[in-house]
Amino acid sequence: MKEKLPIRMTILLSFFIQAIGGWGVESIKQGENTSRVLTSYQVNKTTAVEGGDVYDCIGVNVQPAFDHPLLKDHKIQMEPSSLPLRSYTDFPSKNAVPQVQLPIIECPTGTIPILRNNRRYHMAEKTIDEVISKDVQQEVAGIEYRDELYGTRAKINVYEPMVKKNSKDISGATIQIHEGTELGRRDGIGAGSWVYPSYSGDSYARFHVYWVKDHGPPITTCVDHDCHAFVQVSQSVGLGGRIQPISIYNGPQYEIDVLIFKDPKTKNWWVAYGEKNTPIGYWPNSLFQYMKEKGEFALWGGFVKGPTASMDSPQMGSGHFASEGFGKASFMKNIQIVDKTNKLVSPNVNSAHPGGTNFSKYTTDGYGHNDDGLHIYYGGPGDFV
Ligand SMILES: *[C@@H]1O[C@H](CO)[C@@H](O)[C@H](O)[C@H]1NC(C)=O
Ligand SMILES: *[C@@H]1O[C@H](CO)[C@@H](O)[C@H](O)[C@H]1NC(C)=O
Ligand SMILES: *[C@@H]1O[C@H](CO)[C@@H](O)[C@H](O)[C@H]1NC(C)=O
Repeated sequence: MKEKLPIRMTILLSFFIQAIGGWGVESIKQGENTSRVLTSYQVNKTTAVEGGDVYDCIGVNVQPAFDHPLLKDHKIQMEPSSLPLRSYTDFPSKNAVPQVQLPIIECPTGTIPILRNNRRYHMAEKTIDEVISKDVQQEVAGIEYRDELYGTRAKINVYEPMVKKNSKDISGATIQIHEGTELGRRDGIGAGSWVYPSYSGDSYARFHVYWVKDHGPPITTCVDHDCHAFVQVSQSVGLGGRIQPISIYNGPQYEIDVLIFKDPKTKNWWVAYGEKNTPIGYWPNSLFQYMKEKGEFALWGGFVKGPTASMDSPQMGSGHFASEGFGKASFMKNIQIVDKTNKLVSPNVNSAHPGGTNFSKYTTDGYGHNDDGLHIYYGGPGDFV
């Protein structure tokens, strides 16, 4: 088993973790909501979800993305021209784990659900400057990949790591792709589960997609429908909603199967989920400057970030060290990449590097590679006792 030096990961992965979190925003109270975000949209139906979230169904053809200056003439693509071909069927494993449910909202045909959230309205305008974010702390544990790729897929074990409520830290389990190494000349996208109390107003694991735009300062992270960039086609998946059920330490385990891929025809970057790769939506190719054709890095695993993420660290994964293994430590498995010919294949093992930034807080273990792709356990308690 090959473990890279912690420092190496810190440098390579700094882009993503620099870009997520660290927004200087005030906390909101749980249950607070507002209709402000959607005043300019025709709302066809409003649904309150158990737990306090409220979704508005708005026309798929008039959704926020179509306000984006780069998308004025964008013609919506209602489904991918093709899904990446699977080169194998997942082996029935002895540790078979059921899929979690993404928040499903019943919107009328021709509409999509958008989460109402006071915070998101403000965040859309927020940007983070790399200079400022220098004092933002970050830690990672997982697998880093440096090679050409056109998409990636993984099964993400979903936990609800503890993050101190009054901190502005985030703890995430995500898959990410990016392109570009030079400051100001980079693009990246990702999807997965976060606990981020200062963003969502609670400590639940929520499903998010995000685009990190670094086209010269400032670096902007656009989460879900923030920045009006993501084009959603699913009439039912509620982005930003709670993932349920979540895994219990030494109890039932749940995972989510997430796929990100570039449409071979339109070159839009899609996000799909579940056994059937159900499309959620995409980032139009015209948004990107550096990731128009492919990505050259990926990261699979956990990260924590925020003003106290290293000093007074949140949990990562299950909050337990990777060596505890299945049912106790958080995993990522069936990790694959999409190659140039639009096939899901195992990543090039020589380009994959398991590791982390501080093994006294967060570890990796069980790293392996077989026909199912890569897999790894990762995580730890941080400074939680
Ligand atoms: C949030 O919005 C819902 C639906 O519009 C409403 O019923 C509820 O009272 C609101 N909650 C708060 C705290 O304003
Ligand atoms: C939404 O509601 C408006 C007004 O009731 C209606 O004209 C429109 O067709 C509806 N759109 C969809 C996609 O249902
Ligand atoms: C890792 O975390 C421990 C415990 O908080 C701390 O003492 C140590 O300095 C950290 N190491 C690095 C390389 O940051």
